[in-house]
Amino acid sequence: VFACIAQAPEDPILGVTVAYNKDQSPVKVNLGVGAYRTEEGKPLVLNVVRKAEQLLVNDPSRVKEYLPITGLADFNKLSAKLIFGADSPAIQENRVATVQCLSGTGSLRVGGEFLARHYHERTIYIPQPTWGNHPKIFTLSGLSVKYYRYYDSETRGLNLQGLLEDLSSASPGAIVLLHACAHNPTGVDPTLEQWEHIRQLIRSKSLLPFFDSAYQGFASGSLDADARSVRMFVADGGECLTAQSYAKNMGLYGERVGALSIVCRSSDVAVRVESQLKLVIRPMYSNPPIHGASIVATILKDSEKFKEWTIELKSMADRIISMRKQLFDALRERGTPGDWSHIIKQIGMFTFTGLNSEQVAFMTKEYHIYMTSDGRISMAGLSSRTVPHLADAIHAAVTR
Ligand code: LMR
Repeated sequence: VFACIAQAPEDPILGVTVAYNKDQSPVKVNLGVGAYRTEEGKPLVLNVVRKAEQLLVNDPSRVKEYLPITGLADFNKLSAKLIFGADSPAIQENRVATVQCLSGTGSLRVGGEFLARHYHERTIYIPQPTWGNHPKIFTLSGLSVKYYRYYDSETRGLNLQGLLEDLSSASPGAIVLLHACAHNPTGVDPTLEQWEHIRQLIRSKSLLPFFDSAYQGFASGSLDADARSVRMFVADGGECLTAQSYAKNMGLYGERVGALSIVCRSSDVAVRVESQLKLVIRPMYSNPPIHGASIVATILKDSEKFKEWTIELKSMADRIISMRKQLFDALRERGTPGDWSHIIKQIGMFTFTGLNSEQVAFMTKEYHIYMTSDGRISMAGLSSRTVPHLADAIHAAVTR
């Protein structure tokens, strides 16, 4: 009965790792998936995560019971505080419904399905370009996806005017997906002043902001600075949704730990919203896994561990920033044609190089460098050892 099923293509991001794993070359480098690597090219488990795990393992009172449908209560409270700030009026007034979800993707999906069921407007505007999974998540949630202009390939910066024009002509009430910080794939974020423009437009048209926060602390090294955009929208008293992921900032990729928060106008509404979120989650996966959320809660609720986390987080962010500088310098040394200053201007995990798919294919074939075909490089996968090899490959690709 399945004989006529066609072979599906690999995922444009995760498929890069599949191809990389098949390559036998000793010089191969995987700059596809956004996953942090050490200077030695190894995955990193944070010390503070190891400590939290030890505490959990040694605690005999811990059992493996089901969590509630909404997840670990402590985790939810602490996650909302982390993104909105402890002094956020929305938190103090109990207007936030937070549910633990399966990392960023799961949080976006639950939020999308909730909106498709309960919100009057089914159109979601997402930036052009955006993370490749966004359009799929929201389409399968039952929303209709449209794009707003975001990136200007001439300046390799933000197309603010295009963004404002497209959101101005959106139907009133439409949902707008925003990357809270470290826009994926471009590494281009609005300035605070530009965010304020965007906020005013969104509120004046009663659009509904849905933040994807996958990199809090990873962009600038500061948890508060990377949450400014979200907090600006919460401070005005209006509604918004936020999907949080702990994949990058706590290195908990495979634990699939994240949270969806819906900021409401009153605590009474938040209670009803949470009751409906449970109806979305229960038939999807019943309830979320316990281990990753327990690690996060253990770290967030203890001031010493929290501090230790922020130090480790900052050192990951700083290593990425230093990779930007090294790659930029290496291209300058080689006299590679073009203005590569965007490498040091863009922020977060990725550089959107401007290389086209043919150049990327050339670099993969000749230099065993693996990256997504849109020219995105995961800076977190680079090290001082691999920078010269990448610079040689880029130089060869643009001077062919
Ligand atoms: C990425 O964009 O590389 C990451 O967010 C990982 C993923 O799941 O695509």
